[in-house]
Amino acid sequence: MYKDLKGYKVLITGGSSGLGLAMAEQLLSEGASVMITARGEERLLAAEASLAAKGYDVCSCPMDVTDEASVAKAAALAEERFGCLDMVVCDAGIGGNAPALKGLAPGYRALDVPVEAVRQVVGTNLIGFFTTVKYFVPLMEKQGRGRLLYVSTSTSTMTREGQVPYGPSKAGAEAMAIILSQELKDKGITVNIICPGGFTDTAMAPDGALDFMIKSGRPVLKPTVMNSLISWLASPDAEGVTGQKFVGKDFAPPAKIREV
Ligand SMILES: NC(=O)c1ccc[n+]([C@@H]2O[C@H](COP(=O)([O-])OP(=O)(O)OC[C@H]3O[C@@H](n4cnc5c(N)ncnc54)[C@H](OP(=O)(O)O)[C@@H]3O)[C@@H](O)[C@H]2O)c1
Repeated sequence: MYKDLKGYKVLITGGSSGLGLAMAEQLLSEGASVMITARGEERLLAAEASLAAKGYDVCSCPMDVTDEASVAKAAALAEERFGCLDMVVCDAGIGGNAPALKGLAPGYRALDVPVEAVRQVVGTNLIGFFTTVKYFVPLMEKQGRGRLLYVSTSTSTMTREGQVPYGPSKAGAEAMAIILSQELKDKGITVNIICPGGFTDTAMAPDGALDFMIKSGRPVLKPTVMNSLISWLASPDAEGVTGQKFVGKDFAPPAKIREV
């Protein structure tokens, strides 16, 4: 579709696996230069090597979004390598132990969740997003333009039983994304929320979830579900589009945009 991303510089958190890795490959295949980041170095380096073997302009940097010093270090490396950024995809996230699917763990209650588990999930999905924005958005501000994306979940997931702490962590991050879309508008930076639109077969799935989905005849999405959406969001056609939420599964350009 869009094949002209040569010179387009992208940073993807959580780029070593699942949706982040698939979006990295999609943008790379269109000519972009992409830095992928994540905590686990082994998986990160393996992802980088497999993309580089296809001839793509990819690099990686270990980074933990819950560790401010690590984010600051990665941002400095991105600046050294790229000078500035055209797109930042905030994909890094964890599910915690929430069963996520009604029926998988019927007895699961928010009140039984340890406070530390809530802290961890919110620390990654919400505060980690904030920390990423704080250190990487200046690399877009430098050139007076850029596109910031937050990888969220379906709106129904945020308030569904069994979704504490994951759902509320994503709801908070979406609120932050909308605020940022307003505050960054006059800096030429757009901020949008994206999500796959259903259960996606990645490493994040809780134990037994994939089997449960298949046995109960429910749809299972592939990480490539974001391909046409991420391409469009990086393209000139998405110029000025901000403060929106897009669902990968339902997306077909021209975009069907819905307010959040
Ligand atoms: N799978 C689904 O059904 C689904 C549905 C809706 C939304 N999402 C969202 O999609 C995003 C990607 O998830 P996924 O499904 O692709 O799962 P995944 O395959 O587990 O990918 C998660 C990525 O985030 C990284 N990560 C986790 N914690 C991190 C941290 N503290 N700092 C930096 N990187 C970190 C992981 O690498 P390390 O562990 O090595 O750090 C990995 O690269 C998440 O935000 C998730 O909430 C997923």
